[in-house]
Amino acid sequence: MQALTFQGVRDVRCERVPDPRLEDPGDVLVRVEVAAICGSDLHPYRGNEVGIDDGTVMGHEFTGEVLEVGAGVKEFKVGDRVVSPFTTNCGACPTCEDGLTARCEHGALFGWVENGKGLHGAQAEFVRVPMADATLVGVPDGIPSEEALLTGDILSTGYFCAHAARFEPGSTVVVLGCGPVGLMAIIGALELGARRVLAVDAVPERLELAKRFGAQAVPLANAAELVLEATHGRGADAVLEVVGSAAASRLALDLARVGGTISAVGVHTEPHFAFSPGEAYDKNLTYVAGRCSARHFAPRMLEVLAERRYPVADIFSHRMTFDDGPRGYRIFDERLEGCTKVLLTSS
Ligand SMILES: NC(=O)c1ccc[n+]([C@@H]2O[C@H](COP(=O)([O-])OP(=O)(O)OC[C@H]3O[C@@H](n4cnc5c(N)ncnc54)[C@H](O)[C@@H]3O)[C@@H](O)[C@H]2O)c1
Ligand SMILES: [Zn+2]
Ligand SMILES: [Zn+2]
Repeated sequence: MQALTFQGVRDVRCERVPDPRLEDPGDVLVRVEVAAICGSDLHPYRGNEVGIDDGTVMGHEFTGEVLEVGAGVKEFKVGDRVVSPFTTNCGACPTCEDGLTARCEHGALFGWVENGKGLHGAQAEFVRVPMADATLVGVPDGIPSEEALLTGDILSTGYFCAHAARFEPGSTVVVLGCGPVGLMAIIGALELGARRVLAVDAVPERLELAKRFGAQAVPLANAAELVLEATHGRGADAVLEVVGSAAASRLALDLARVGGTISAVGVHTEPHFAFSPGEAYDKNLTYVAGRCSARHFAPRMLEVLAERRYPVADIFSHRMTFDDGPRGYRIFDERLEGCTKVLLTSS
């Protein structure tokens, strides 16, 4: 099959690799209809996350059709349209029972094979999904596959970020970073009752998109001043940090009110917090972070999509076939051609 494989830093290639096969009775094979490139794919691409084997099939965002089911699979049959969260989960361990499916004791991340162990990804014609009964979610008719794909990661992640902040309805919420995940966090904040969402970024096209999703656009250069002005000098009730850098963490602290919350889904690889325990203490700050359990949130997100209230497909700035995928990585990485998100198909 055709697949986008990791070959080193800033080197993703479209190659022919062996088709995946059922390996366990709980596996399902999915024919990928649409896949996408995620900001998280850029961490190994840029060399910020290391350890991934050369030849690993990249990608963890996809919607597709069930092609083959293992003997133990009960919930899905050939021909079903399915979306998958970016990690697999068993559905039965204590972590899964807590709703933290992304931290399942038996789970794996799609598109991460290290020292020969792990799970190949979904930027390919076919993908093997282990523990399929607990992992996959059926896509209802009427929801386009490219929109359903967002529930497997970024829409669920944006919602999770807002949910984890536990703000009161009527709150003023800042979304730091209007990349694809930040744009989805705007939806999360509005769905959970934010009265006002102030979306911060330095990229004008992304701020334009933020407005289309229902936020007030705030240029990064004036963020502190405009957020304080909008909140009578108090700061925001919640800051959703959807960047993953020390600078964004620092700004989040500055924008949060006393007693406020920072909810961070940006992936952080720095060794220390960007603010001191004393600064957190002085603000009576709540800080919450982590990987989204997309399997837990996806069913609710499919309901949100069915209501068709947000122009979610507008985030796909580029659509291309797997052959062109290496270019997709390059323009997404370097933010060329106004790239916000790349959708991939096999033909
Ligand atoms: N926690 C999870 O489960 C999860 C899931 C998916 C993605 N992520 C992570 O979420 C983060 C965002 O993903 P994305 O695809 O939207 O990435 P992205 O890089 O496309 O978007 C980040 C945006 O933040 C802006 N930005 C940079 N510095 C800023 C600052 N100091 N203040 C405000 N904005 C700033 C950039 O201009 C950009 O538009 C990444 O770290 C990604 O890995 C986490
Ligand atoms: Zn992703
Ligand atoms: Zn589990």
